[in-house]
Amino acid sequence: MQSKQSIHGSWGSRWIFILAATGSAVGLGNIWKFPYITGENGGGAFVLVYLFCIMLVGIPIMMGEILVGRRARQSPINAVRETAAEAGLNRNWSLIGWLGVLAGYIIFSFYSVVAGWVLDYIAAMGTGQLVNIGSNEAGERFNSLLANPVQMLIWHTLFVLMVVGVVAGGVNKGLERATKIMMPALFVLLVVLLGYSVNSGGFQQGWDFLFGFNVEALTWDAVLVALGHAFFTLSLGMGAIMAYGSYMGKKDSIGATVLTIGVLDTLVALVAGLAIFPVVFANQMDPGAGPGLMFVTLPVAFGQMPGGQVFGFLFFLLVGVAAWTSAISLLEPATAWVVERFGLKRPVAALVLGAIIWLMGIASLLSFNYWAEIKLFGMGIFDLLDFTTASIMLPLSGLMIAFFSGWKLQQKITRDELALKSDLVYSAWLLVIRFVAPVAVLVIFIAKLYEKLA
Ligand code: PFF
Ligand code: NA
Repeated sequence: MQSKQSIHGSWGSRWIFILAATGSAVGLGNIWKFPYITGENGGGAFVLVYLFCIMLVGIPIMMGEILVGRRARQSPINAVRETAAEAGLNRNWSLIGWLGVLAGYIIFSFYSVVAGWVLDYIAAMGTGQLVNIGSNEAGERFNSLLANPVQMLIWHTLFVLMVVGVVAGGVNKGLERATKIMMPALFVLLVVLLGYSVNSGGFQQGWDFLFGFNVEALTWDAVLVALGHAFFTLSLGMGAIMAYGSYMGKKDSIGATVLTIGVLDTLVALVAGLAIFPVVFANQMDPGAGPGLMFVTLPVAFGQMPGGQVFGFLFFLLVGVAAWTSAISLLEPATAWVVERFGLKRPVAALVLGAIIWLMGIASLLSFNYWAEIKLFGMGIFDLLDFTTASIMLPLSGLMIAFFSGWKLQQKITRDELALKSDLVYSAWLLVIRFVAPVAVLVIFIAKLYEKLA
């Protein structure tokens, strides 16, 4: 029915879209955050809840985001407004797009700081600084990076520029090509690393930690973190997937595509966990070490293994690339909107928006040193931004997307746009997006609130 194209371009093929969206999904969330929050929340039971959140909340909402993006073929803010208009709804639904763009900004600002650490480790690995490093030394090295705002600022600046550079040139060329090469490479390296960890002497312990479903360890806190992470890891609630969806071919199946992205993202997270935890246990380190897990544990492992310098270098290089392709998808929605709204040239839009993110990132970066004392609700700035986005804004934004696509859009629109192969699958999607996903999000929110107040 529609033969509309986005003014920003469109993906060359279905597979390019899948790879680009996977590039957005697979990032620091999988390799850095998933292992450490799993560690902090006691392991297996957390993983189980997380998997449920991916299947019952993440995947259906991802379909909702893509269908809205592809329907309108515009930046998220305008896409929601236009789809709302098509459905005869109030234009204020574009609030969903605004909430997403705002969350994306905040996430980018601290994401970039962590990506900066990755760049620092690429350099350190590349120059052999971490050869034969012990666990104590590795911990000290990481802490001294955190204590050095200037060094962090340099990497943060470089990372923002790398992202601006790609978004400025348009997503198609740079992003498409990089993803195609780097994503399979990342996967191969993870498997190689997995091979190492299988032989590290701690594999069984690591495996049990990830998959030993000890339900008693579960708290509402952990459930909320799992839910928030399901959104974060799939790049949902920020317009990233909606923007990428707006460049998708009209004939491509949304259902199969989303499933592929979800499976790949989950696989990478689990393999990263299986690569990291055995090494943690083999070296008698603490799985609950927090954000430093990847930066302390892995260097120790690489420092000992034959060829570890090369593998370690490649590993951090690929984590950097994974972070890069994800951050690009955080900048893209707002850039597309500024181009549409103000008619600015894309490079100018990307640069201006990048500058705002760069400034915001400085607050996160200082929260590890000069501003370490500043605490709100017991959290430093970095943790607070992470918590506010992942545990509050993303679930909220996801809830609104579920409500919008499941209840407010006419079934004629969603059925036509999703174009699922069987009516049964469509009905299942409708059931989940209308009831299961919103109820899950609300129950978890309310349980947390109740726990806070009680
Ligand atoms: N999904 C990315 C990750 O797991 O690292 C993070 C991310 C990228 C979140 C893009 C949100 C987003 F829009
Ligand atoms: Na992810």
